[in-house]
Amino acid sequence: MKRIAVIGPGAIGGTVIVRLAQVKELGVVVCARSAIPQFILDAPEGRMTATPEVLTAPGGEVRPVQWILVATKTYDVPAAAAWFASLTGPETRLAVLQNGVEHLERFAPYFPVSRIVPVVVDLPVEREAPGILRQRRAGILTVPANPDGEEFARLFDDTGIEVVRAADFQTALWRKLAVNCAGAVSALVLKPAAVTHRPDIADIVRGLVRECVAVGRAEGAALDDSVVEAVLERYRKSAPDSVNSLHADRIAGRPMEIDTRNGVIVRLGSKHGISTPVNQMIVALLEAAAK
Ligand SMILES: NC(=O)c1ccc[n+]([C@@H]2O[C@H](COP(=O)([O-])OP(=O)(O)OC[C@H]3O[C@@H](n4cnc5c(N)ncnc54)[C@H](OP(=O)(O)O)[C@@H]3O)[C@@H](O)[C@H]2O)c1
Repeated sequence: MKRIAVIGPGAIGGTVIVRLAQVKELGVVVCARSAIPQFILDAPEGRMTATPEVLTAPGGEVRPVQWILVATKTYDVPAAAAWFASLTGPETRLAVLQNGVEHLERFAPYFPVSRIVPVVVDLPVEREAPGILRQRRAGILTVPANPDGEEFARLFDDTGIEVVRAADFQTALWRKLAVNCAGAVSALVLKPAAVTHRPDIADIVRGLVRECVAVGRAEGAALDDSVVEAVLERYRKSAPDSVNSLHADRIAGRPMEIDTRNGVIVRLGSKHGISTPVNQMIVALLEAAAK
């Protein structure tokens, strides 16, 4: 039996936990900050439940596993890494299910980079309470098309989650960032996706995404200009009341992944001499609003 530890049983981690727990050949252990007696996932194909083993502190009874999946928010990575010492054996691989384009850089201080699998997550899930999850539509995970990516993908063979093996993973990362960077507008004005129907807000979204595309290209992503209107259309077509996770974090008074979703465009833009005033402004405004 393959043993998998999932660190961070929130919206994404919880969904993955429930789905992997349905597979007989896999043993799932949950690494959490507090006990969760049961997981209930309301998914497009129906309700699924799981009652996996839940550990609430690193050390003690924690044993090495074949796979560690991290699904915390990016700002919680240093604390999440405290689990690695007891979960890691010589063969253990780490899959990073987080937003942004810096999966490897974020974990390089804590884990051998050659055994890290970065994962682009397109899985719209809300956590209604600890262990109570609502998945709005079918999800897709994207991994690099290499042997470790393939091994990761096989874990999900019977879970109802599609895993795409991307030959050009860099482009997949930046395509997702182009969507995520636009979500900052909703987080700033505290209005769901429908706000993008305003022409003035649509122009700001275009500005954010245009800068992301320019920096992404400098980083080697194959993004064309059509991405800008495609992202805007995606927000306009999503449920008018849909709340992105940056917005949800701000409403809940949690820290926000501002640097992961917008700050990174400013930082990498500056490395390439690309000006990113719209992202720079939104980062400053969100950081000031969060204080
Ligand atoms: N939700 C989505 O629809 C979605 C879609 C695409 C990508 N993403 C990305 O996926 C990542 C995860 O997002 P999410 O929405 O699943 O976040 P989330 O619902 O806030 O869940 C994060 C989980 O990590 C746990 N955690 C934090 N520090 C921990 C530690 N030291 N040890 C163990 N657990 C720890 C939290 O514990 P508590 O329960 O104590 O808070 C929480 O259960 C983010 O990078 C996000 O941007 C999310």
